Amino acid sequence: MRHGIAKLPNWAPYAPEGADANMLGEFVSSQIRGSLNWNDIENFRKLWPRKMVLKGVMRTDDAIRAAEIGVDGLMVSNHGARQLDRAPSPLDVLPSINAAVGDRMTLMLDGGVRRGSDVLIALCMGAKFIFLGRPTLYGVVAGGVAGASKAASILRNEIDLVMAQIGVTSLDQLGPDFVHWDEDELRRNMPR
Ligand SMILES: Cc1cc2nc3c(=O)[nH]c(=O)nc-3n(C[C@H](O)[C@H](O)[C@H](O)COP(=O)(O)O)c2cc1C
Repeated sequence: MRHGIAKLPNWAPYAPEGADANMLGEFVSSQIRGSLNWNDIENFRKLWPRKMVLKGVMRTDDAIRAAEIGVDGLMVSNHGARQLDRAPSPLDVLPSINAAVGDRMTLMLDGGVRRGSDVLIALCMGAKFIFLGRPTLYGVVAGGVAGASKAASILRNEIDLVMAQIGVTSLDQLGPDFVHWDEDELRRNMPR
């Protein structure tokens, strides 16, 4: 199927017989437990002996709590601002989270990364890995697998260009001093 409403095929086998795309959405929502809490994270930590990463952390106090539980890494993410359209951007909250736990946890970031410069700014502010959602999806829509590769190569070229412009030859040379950042504005935007 190359057109029409997205079908969520990985959920379809578990959905009620004959569910259409809208019913499937309701079914998926019904399977997400709203009562998930920090006790669950502690239990997952005990059960899972390998590296554990929490996605969707946007507050410094949550980041500290995750570090205390022994979570290894955080994906600072607002899920692409698809859940709360008033959520701050991950980049806005990254510096305070980095200051609080950056020495104990691997920080990653996604959400709103559209240019090579966005990738570099996030690296400057403490993220070790940057992830993409829609940029490569848009590439897929435009040109299939080759489109996704094209989107990645555009970003790659932009990263190289910006690195040349700021006089950096390797990523480990990046740091916050490359970013003009208004501390007062940052504090105003921080979630309380
Ligand atoms: C269509 C779509 C569905 C998504 N579904 C989920 C999901 O089920 N769980 C989740 O953690 N994030 C989900 N995300 C968020 C992505 O994993 C990712 O955090 C986000 O797309 C990154 O932002 P960006 O698209 O601006 O790069 C979804 C994103 C899109 C576009």
